[in-house]
Amino acid sequence: MTVGAPLIGKAPLTSGVKMSDDTFRLIREFIYQQTGIYFQDNKKYLLEGRLGKRLQVLNLGTFEEYLQLIKYGTRRNEELKFFYDAITINETFFFRNEPQFEAFEKTLVPAILAGKPPRYKLRVWSSASSSGEEAHTIAMLYLERLKPKYPALELEVVGTDINSTVLDTARKGVYRDYSVRNMPKMYLDKYFKAEDGRFTVRDDVRRLVRFEHLNLYDQIRMRQMGTYDIIFCCNVLIYFDAPSKIQVVSNLYDALNRGGFLFIGYAESLHGISTAFKLENFPKTVAYKKE
Ligand SMILES: C[S@@+](CC[C@H](N)C(=O)[O-])C[C@H]1O[C@@H](n2cnc3c(N)ncnc32)[C@H](O)[C@@H]1O
Repeated sequence: MTVGAPLIGKAPLTSGVKMSDDTFRLIREFIYQQTGIYFQDNKKYLLEGRLGKRLQVLNLGTFEEYLQLIKYGTRRNEELKFFYDAITINETFFFRNEPQFEAFEKTLVPAILAGKPPRYKLRVWSSASSSGEEAHTIAMLYLERLKPKYPALELEVVGTDINSTVLDTARKGVYRDYSVRNMPKMYLDKYFKAEDGRFTVRDDVRRLVRFEHLNLYDQIRMRQMGTYDIIFCCNVLIYFDAPSKIQVVSNLYDALNRGGFLFIGYAESLHGISTAFKLENFPKTVAYKKE
């Protein structure tokens, strides 16, 4: 067993330690049990690279030692935070799937509000929020497009993710060019403060949104999330296999109010996963309705 050298100065990009196929399968199994995320065989290099950095930081010589630590170690819970951060892919940006936001504002919200008292609190869940761009987009649309039409309408957006680091960014509401590149300029000018190449979401948007740590695969926590009118679960199901998708989507169904809608990612589908929803078509997008 080689023990890695103590860290001095800047951490090297990877540990250079190899992950055996057997250990890859054990780590994959552990990830699957904990999160529902399934790593295909061709993604071994990704785990090797990303977890290799944790080996460096923890001064561990093998992935077997690391697996022992996250399974049985006394610091297991602290390390799991870094572990989840290392294994997730957090790509996102403001107004990512515009047809969804258009359907949300023009059709879904009016349908939900029909027959409701004017003073209604719309509850929206951004269920794999990453650094919060989706959740903040929803809040801006409310201020810009919904509030003028429905002055007594209130909004609460809950953003959740398994990755604590992206949640910290979401809570700060400070973004770089990459995140705002797809956003209409008017929203950037009106709802952000620009300073030194950073864009900070204004308080009137931020106060509509809160962020919580949540593992979508944790059935107990999922059942405690309360109920929502609209749930966004975008670009995360793609990482799950069929049984974990079925579990997560069933929990999301339970968390929707009757007449509520679920959005999933552009490249995702509920085919073979759930027949409980009614598929509704909109220009260039679909939504899943709980009737
Ligand atoms: C690619 S991002 C999508 C962000 C945003 N929904 C969008 O479409 O732009 C996927 C997010 O899902 C999160 N994620 C992956 N597995 C998860 C799980 N089991 N529970 C909660 N979040 C998870 C990741 O941490 C990541 O931030």
